[in-house]
Amino acid sequence: MIKSEAKERIEKLKNLVDKYRYQYHVLNKLEISEEALDFLKHELKKLEDEFPNLVTADSPTQRVAGKPLKEFKKVRHQTKMMSLEDVFSEEEFSEWVDRLDRLIKSKPNHFYPHTKSFGVGVYAEPKFDGLALSIVYEGGVLKYAATRGDGQVGEDVTQNVRTIESVPLKIRAKGRVEVRGEAIITKKNFEAINKRQKNKGASLYANTRNLAAGSLRQLDPKITASRRLDFFAYDLSGAEFKNHSEEHKALRDLGFKTGGGLEGICKKPEEVFLRYKKIAERREKLPYNIDGIVVSIDSNDLFKKLGVVGKAPRGTIAFKFAPKETTTKVEDIIVQVGRTGALTPVAILKPVEIGGVVVSRATLHNEDEIKRLGVKIGDSVIVGRAGDVIPDIRKVLKELRTSREREFHMPKHCPVCKKPIEKKEGEVQAKCVNKFCPAMHREGLYHFVSRKAFNIDGLGPKILNAFLDHGLIQDASDIFELKEGDIAPLERFGEKSAENLVEAIKSSRKITLARFLYALGILHVGEETAIDLAEHFGSLEKLEHMSKENLESIPNIGEVMAESVYGWFRDERNKNFLKKLLKYIDIENPKKKKPGKLAGKTFVFTGEMESMSRDEAKAKVRELSGDPSETVSKNTDYVVVGENPGSKYARAQKLGVKIIDEKEFLKMIK
Ligand code: IVH
Repeated sequence: MIKSEAKERIEKLKNLVDKYRYQYHVLNKLEISEEALDFLKHELKKLEDEFPNLVTADSPTQRVAGKPLKEFKKVRHQTKMMSLEDVFSEEEFSEWVDRLDRLIKSKPNHFYPHTKSFGVGVYAEPKFDGLALSIVYEGGVLKYAATRGDGQVGEDVTQNVRTIESVPLKIRAKGRVEVRGEAIITKKNFEAINKRQKNKGASLYANTRNLAAGSLRQLDPKITASRRLDFFAYDLSGAEFKNHSEEHKALRDLGFKTGGGLEGICKKPEEVFLRYKKIAERREKLPYNIDGIVVSIDSNDLFKKLGVVGKAPRGTIAFKFAPKETTTKVEDIIVQVGRTGALTPVAILKPVEIGGVVVSRATLHNEDEIKRLGVKIGDSVIVGRAGDVIPDIRKVLKELRTSREREFHMPKHCPVCKKPIEKKEGEVQAKCVNKFCPAMHREGLYHFVSRKAFNIDGLGPKILNAFLDHGLIQDASDIFELKEGDIAPLERFGEKSAENLVEAIKSSRKITLARFLYALGILHVGEETAIDLAEHFGSLEKLEHMSKENLESIPNIGEVMAESVYGWFRDERNKNFLKKLLKYIDIENPKKKKPGKLAGKTFVFTGEMESMSRDEAKAKVRELSGDPSETVSKNTDYVVVGENPGSKYARAQKLGVKIIDEKEFLKMIK
């Protein structure tokens, strides 16, 4: 090919590759296959190799062309890169609005013609959790890119930013144009990179932000390229715009990603709250991390007039999500006795808000966990909520110790009944083995009325405590004897509420055999086992008289469970309790049914499914005579994997158990 032909072909190829890059990395839809795109890039590369002086800086082949640097050059930002003030609640957000309105009112001439902060509305968009970048184009070509640094002077990371496919190397614009935005890494890439780090025995990245920052500050652009960063733009200068929203539209027209489709104008604070909630709900499912929303006064004129306070513009606020982790102090460690006698150490925390709720206790599980964490009474700790629900201590901040912290030791005696406690060889949990321990009894009662057992509306631990403390009940069967007149005099009760409770107790008398067995609180008999037992034996009478061997012969019941069930029905105290209890209740035995199409198949679920909850999925399996289980073993037939699967997924892979996704599962139960 002669040079003039090559030049023409190169120009065309560059434009075509850029078009498909934009489709793929910005719009997320590619009209051609990835292989075809690779082929176009390959042809371009070959031509450029043949005619090296036809290579230009905006060529897609130049995304990873740089050699490793010795150090980053410093770049002075033309205008300062600011930061944002944070608010964490609707109240704090409203205070920001009030503050602006007071300011506007106090200087009407200065702010003319604006009379209210929400006049033209505000623009709300996600707050991406990454690293701020300034990218400068001159004559439409990417000239340089810099990190925020101290706001005035940043580091030149041009080579690295060129590797980000969602950043265009050329744009349709004249003169000097500066685009600011956030470089991020997707959750998926983060996981994959950490997995690689782990396999290499290298240290892991703490979060997506650290990884994004670490990847941009690489002297070798090849490493940055391998991290596949992404970029969301939020600010454009170099042209005049009336509103922030128009600026965003212009950014999109230039080929940048903005807002991730979550952005928009809000005309009232209530609309901001609604958008905040909607975005918060979608947060987990988004492919990247966000940590709040950014709300800006939409009118650029008013925004400018509002000016700056400290390092932050007055006209923009970061409305952050409640933190999922926070720090607090361990004020004490107490020991709780559970229904089965298990002793659980619990950290009493200085109350803090995590993810929108106040938390004051966190389970420490057992002595081993305390040792693993190295936690002492008085320590400063990082707490989070496991699975976003259960508070847990993640880390002890040993650097903050004062030497006044106290070591915790597991007691040798039950804190409630004072009898010696037992810890068997090889077991992690210490236990109170006193059958008559009042603490175990109390916990057993809580369990008896709980949602998956008798499910008595309005009867929880607090009221049960009051019943016990007033001597109204001795054991669970006494609950069914309670009359309105017994309950009404108690604190927080009146005649009406007492009547309602008696009614709720009455209507709970009819109960399925499975729920009944679960309510008894037999050691090792959880919800699943109770269902297995009920379905297998069909009636309480049959189960009561079963031999140990017979119990062991049913699927999912091992020796320990069989022993426990057998022993329970032969204990004199339990026998008396049962006799008393059966006077009040009416057990519904399971109907004999024809075996369904999943008969004999065991299923384990891990991760979230889209179309149903895990409980619903298990019920479905049971309905079709299959066997849902919590643990993956060689005998598991299927492991159904949803979003964000847990360790069961890895275990299934290891054991070679068949793994199916939600779609396949739905097909099986159709
Ligand atoms: S506008 C005045 N919009 O949050 C700074 N910032 O806490 C301009 N950030 O340094 C901020 N997503 O790195 C804006 N949609 C967004 C953002 C965003 C993330 C970052 C930005 C800034 C930091 C301030």
